[in-house]
Amino acid sequence: MTVHIGAAPGDIAETVLMPGDPLRAKWAAETFLENPVCVNEVRGMLGFTGTWRGHRVTIHGSGMGMPSLSIYTNELIRDYGARTLIRIGSAGAMQASVALRDIVLAMTASTLSTPSRGMFRELNFAPCADYGLLAAAHAAAKGKGIPTHVGGIYSSDVFYDERPDLNEQMTRHGVLAVEMEAAELYILAARYGVRALAVLTISDHLLTHEALPSSDRQSSFRDMVEIALEAAFA
Ligand code: ADE
Repeated sequence: MTVHIGAAPGDIAETVLMPGDPLRAKWAAETFLENPVCVNEVRGMLGFTGTWRGHRVTIHGSGMGMPSLSIYTNELIRDYGARTLIRIGSAGAMQASVALRDIVLAMTASTLSTPSRGMFRELNFAPCADYGLLAAAHAAAKGKGIPTHVGGIYSSDVFYDERPDLNEQMTRHGVLAVEMEAAELYILAARYGVRALAVLTISDHLLTHEALPSSDRQSSFRDMVEIALEAAFA
């Protein structure tokens, strides 16, 4: 048991899928895993462990934003031995070529700051995905026929952004989408020598101002879970 996770030693699998929303973790575990068991409910941040095609998997909420994800990711890696961590979540498109429901695989994640910012001092560390996971997720997404983009994203600290000029620069520099967690996940994976990837579905568009109705979010989420599971065990 850690400060934020009530699981017993051995309750967490080496492979962990991390949606932001704990109720999505519950839904994904009950939908995709055999014999899912709830291993954490501290502060309502639900985690479940079960098996998928014979492989042990934990699906655990990260919460929203990098400070929250950082707490759970640190404890999952350091205290429970997680070795492969895949974020599954939504993102806002920043390019005209990226449409609602498309999949974005984050090769790298730019930031203004992360919980790890202080330790790098003046260095701009470049957080990047595990290439093996990225390549396997790309193959899995293509196999489903879902339009898929691989490239840089922006991990922001704010959902309600007062810096539209900064977003314009991101678009100009080819950044595909904005979300709020991947950069810290990649930095922690690098620090501890484990594998990480963010598989994202486009839920809103910063250029066209379209947004996915909540009914459509469930089917996009289903695709992401399948892509993440196939990539983890490819
Ligand atoms: N996640 C989904 N859409 C987002 C947006 N527009 N900004 C930040 N995070 C997001």
